Amino acid sequence: MPIPERFLDELTERSDIVEVVGQYVRLTKKSGANLFGLCPFHSEKTPSFSVSPDKQIYHCFGCGKGGGVINFIMEIENLDFRDAVAFLARRANMPMPEEAEGEDSSRRGRLLELNRDAARFFYDRLVSSDGRAAQEYVAKRGISGAMVRNFGLGFAPNEWNALTDAMRKKGYTDRDLLDAGLMKPGKKGGGYDTFRNRLMFPVIDVRGSVIGFSGRILDDGEPKYLNSPETPVFSKSRNLFGLNLAKKTKRGYIILVEGNIDVVSLHQAGFDCAVASLGTSLTPEQARLLTRYTKEVILCYDSDAAGKKAAQRAIGILEKLDMKVRVLQVTGAKDPDEFIRRNGADAFANLIEGSAGQMEYRLAVLAEQYPPDTAEGKVDFFRAAASLLAAIPNAVEREVYAARAADIAGVKKEAVSDEVERLRRSKMRGAKKKENRDGTRPIPTARRGIRYDDPRSARAEEGLIRLLYLDPGIARGRELPEASAFSSELLGRFYSELLERIRSGERISLGVLAGRFTSEEMSHFTSLLEAPEDLANADRALEDYIAVITDRGAEEDEDLAKMAEKMRKTKSYGG
Ligand code: CTP
Ligand code: MN
Repeated sequence: MPIPERFLDELTERSDIVEVVGQYVRLTKKSGANLFGLCPFHSEKTPSFSVSPDKQIYHCFGCGKGGGVINFIMEIENLDFRDAVAFLARRANMPMPEEAEGEDSSRRGRLLELNRDAARFFYDRLVSSDGRAAQEYVAKRGISGAMVRNFGLGFAPNEWNALTDAMRKKGYTDRDLLDAGLMKPGKKGGGYDTFRNRLMFPVIDVRGSVIGFSGRILDDGEPKYLNSPETPVFSKSRNLFGLNLAKKTKRGYIILVEGNIDVVSLHQAGFDCAVASLGTSLTPEQARLLTRYTKEVILCYDSDAAGKKAAQRAIGILEKLDMKVRVLQVTGAKDPDEFIRRNGADAFANLIEGSAGQMEYRLAVLAEQYPPDTAEGKVDFFRAAASLLAAIPNAVEREVYAARAADIAGVKKEAVSDEVERLRRSKMRGAKKKENRDGTRPIPTARRGIRYDDPRSARAEEGLIRLLYLDPGIARGRELPEASAFSSELLGRFYSELLERIRSGERISLGVLAGRFTSEEMSHFTSLLEAPEDLANADRALEDYIAVITDRGAEEDEDLAKMAEKMRKTKSYGG
């Protein structure tokens, strides 16, 4: 079900772009009508991100991103159109229009309800008298009652149908239970509880919905953790355990650990920024989710070989997203939980203070891989380290780590830096050659993929769109060209949206457009709105624009006429 346009209009009306953007970006007034700030979508030192209160749009002259208030929320909160609308609606205190329940959304709603009820059931079992075994386990692990409540921990009794029976009594069908992954089908129909005799960790998403569960076994059995299967509401690779709490942290970083118990134990020790990936090594989706809440991740995986490998992989993924990564190695303990229990929260804080940067860590890993205590090892380490360092963009950092690497390998620092610089030069030559071959230069995002066939007409088309958007009244009593006269397909689509609204007397709202165009298209739209337009001479400009656009149409007609003429001639010659 599409969201009614009336609702979108009112929503954008009530969501002033300056206020909304102002919650993320410090905006200052320079001169003219626009406000400026540092772009939240790319890193920069001088503000090229502008917000126009009049046009209710934002536009970055650096990276080309732009759009209306809904686009901004889509982009910065990493939400799709619908969720961004819901987000703003909450902010504006507008109830979302009655979801004339799309079948999908009502199904999802049902499963979320079931998950919530199941979480309640597990919690009740944990605190009741038959939860003795689990209570003992919780106590043994030193988990406080406050944490049990905070995380909504629970206990799945050691029975075949404890949960399923309780949920059936509440009116849930076997279909519901199967779909939510809480029941496994039995051989003779019916089914049995997926989670039995486990300490239950509800997985709660950033919106606060219980979307699935992890269950930890109470003894040493296998598997240690059992997670909900993929369901319409749960995907392991897209969620992180604990993020519902960690997203509110003020610490400025997020600590990524392996086990759910580590998460709970860290929160208990005051590190309210701990999360765990759900039994997968960090996925790109999870990493992207993290970028919404932090710019820095501290990896604190177990100190075994598997943990190290997982850390390496996570570093690669996070770096691609421009995240700052630190690696924290707990020494003398197998995981953060054990470390804190042994040494206390302060010791852990010290560990964070002194945690080596990722380069340091990578060099240490290389040194393990190629122990530089033999001549051969030295050479191998030297080579690997040089190529690692050559990728560092900052010259000072390159020097610092060259010194570190030289130290480890027991060679002169100059030897390392010379090799690093040599590698960089040859890399750069390679890149240059490639650029020459392709004949390409980076194009600002907004223009990417949009190449006008007829730049003269396109400029006029952009101008016409701009005028109509800024002053729809200008169209009154005018004969406007049809969208088919446009040379650019995309501009034609913008135009016909505007035209349709103008002709039916509706207001033009970016909110409505945001639902119909991709964010790249919206960026293009706002970039063309940002071009200067002299509204005092709008009438003249409008005429000029129309003339150019329709003239182009005429030219084409003319060409056709000429061609027809030619063909007639050819025919008469031939005939
Ligand atoms: N794991 C999982 N599903 C989860 C969480 C973790 O499959 N929801 C897996 C991880 O991939 C890792 C292991 O279980 O391989 C985590 O083990 P560990 O860090 O030892 O978990 P803890 O909860 O800390 O367990 P322990 O009681 O041993 O400290
Ligand atoms: Mn652990």
